[in-house]
Amino acid sequence: MDRIRILGGTPLKGIIPIGGAKNAALTLMPACLLTAETLTLSNLPHLVDITTMANLLAQHGVGMAMNGDAALGGHTGRALELTAAEIVNTTAPYDLVRRMRASVLVLGPLLARCGQARVSLPGGCAIGTRPVDLHLKALEQMGARITLEEGYIAAEVNGRLKGAHIIFPQVTVGGTENILMAATLAEGETVIANAAREPEVADLAHCLVAMGARIEGIGTGTLRVQGVEALHGALYSVVPDRIETGSYAVAAAITRGDVELTGTRIDLMESVIKILRDCGVLVEPTARGIRVCAEGAEIVGTDIMTEPYPGFPTDMQAQLMALMATASGASMITETIFENRFMHVPELMRMGAKINVHGASAIVRGVPRLSGAQVMATDLRASVSLILAGLAAEGETVVNRVYHLDRGYERVEEKLAACGARIERFKGDAAE
Ligand code: UD1
Repeated sequence: MDRIRILGGTPLKGIIPIGGAKNAALTLMPACLLTAETLTLSNLPHLVDITTMANLLAQHGVGMAMNGDAALGGHTGRALELTAAEIVNTTAPYDLVRRMRASVLVLGPLLARCGQARVSLPGGCAIGTRPVDLHLKALEQMGARITLEEGYIAAEVNGRLKGAHIIFPQVTVGGTENILMAATLAEGETVIANAAREPEVADLAHCLVAMGARIEGIGTGTLRVQGVEALHGALYSVVPDRIETGSYAVAAAITRGDVELTGTRIDLMESVIKILRDCGVLVEPTARGIRVCAEGAEIVGTDIMTEPYPGFPTDMQAQLMALMATASGASMITETIFENRFMHVPELMRMGAKINVHGASAIVRGVPRLSGAQVMATDLRASVSLILAGLAAEGETVVNRVYHLDRGYERVEEKLAACGARIERFKGDAAE
């Protein structure tokens, strides 16, 4: 099993290219199920989760071809063609769904296109129970009959799904995406109220419009969809990854470095940038992306609360906690989206961080220097927070179980090493 070794203490300096958003790609890919024509996605990141989604789509009958030369243009020069000319199988099996919850995003498109779908229930995951009840209730409102049998969601509809007025009682990114995709081929109008406004949801909506869907209110909390009889192929470029951007911004800040993040956009992540600026980090737009500079800066503790977009993203909570662990003064970090998303806390404490958890809040008292230690990655964002802490710590940090990291970060060691970090991946038995 791979592990990552870091010798901390070097301020990062240089350029880090940012890829397409994992969470956008994971909903854009299943959108191909809505049409028999080809959907071509460019700026697709190269990640384990993307391969898992590709495997899932392949067993539904989607043909795929990768074009372009990665060596010339990086992933911006690569494009994946997805063609669901014929759907040969409407079951998403347990073995693939258990590896990645986003697999449930095939449910809406399969049901809309084929009138039936069987998708394994995702089950629990490291950061909480994460049910899909809101996806299912909304599909029922659109005329689907849904039963749960042998661990599977079995959904069917006679003819087309019917437009409906859906009011989500709680903001759900995946729920909004599933219903948005289903509504494009439904009969009549669907209104999705309290829709998620995340940039990845807007990216899906723009792609669906390019495929011939009729959607109003993109980027707002109310989406109006006029169903059409068929969608067509399109060429679409995946939005930059705001969480990858934010993670490397913290890498620059925590090492008191100066880094330019290219191929990304400041407007995707204003809440994160506000927090970084409040802490004393310089963040400014450049012609190619964003510059993050903390050279000689005193980082001061700031309170953070996770919220649906445009609030502060839960997917950046662990990374900011690593930064706050080295700030002067105290910060309170409150997690409102997922229960049990503080699993990085005991690992950060092994590195000398001073953190107390009270329910959904963590009080972080900054220390002048973290110290290197053996730590264990528990989920994707927790893993990267340990890498960030390791970059700032005195001495050697070894992060075990880095396979979580490969689900969401492409070539993380290469990108950091190019900016001067002393970091390497090696194989070896994890200290379990
Ligand atoms: C997506 C992101 C994930 C991010 C999360 C919140 C992808 C692939 N993943 O996950 O990285 O952390 O948004 O920004 O895009 N809920 C229910 N019932 C439901 C659906 C959700 O109770 O049917 C709850 C969840 O348990 C959670 C909250 O609603 O507490 C938000 O979940 P949701 O926005 O749906 O997250 P995901 O789409 O799973």
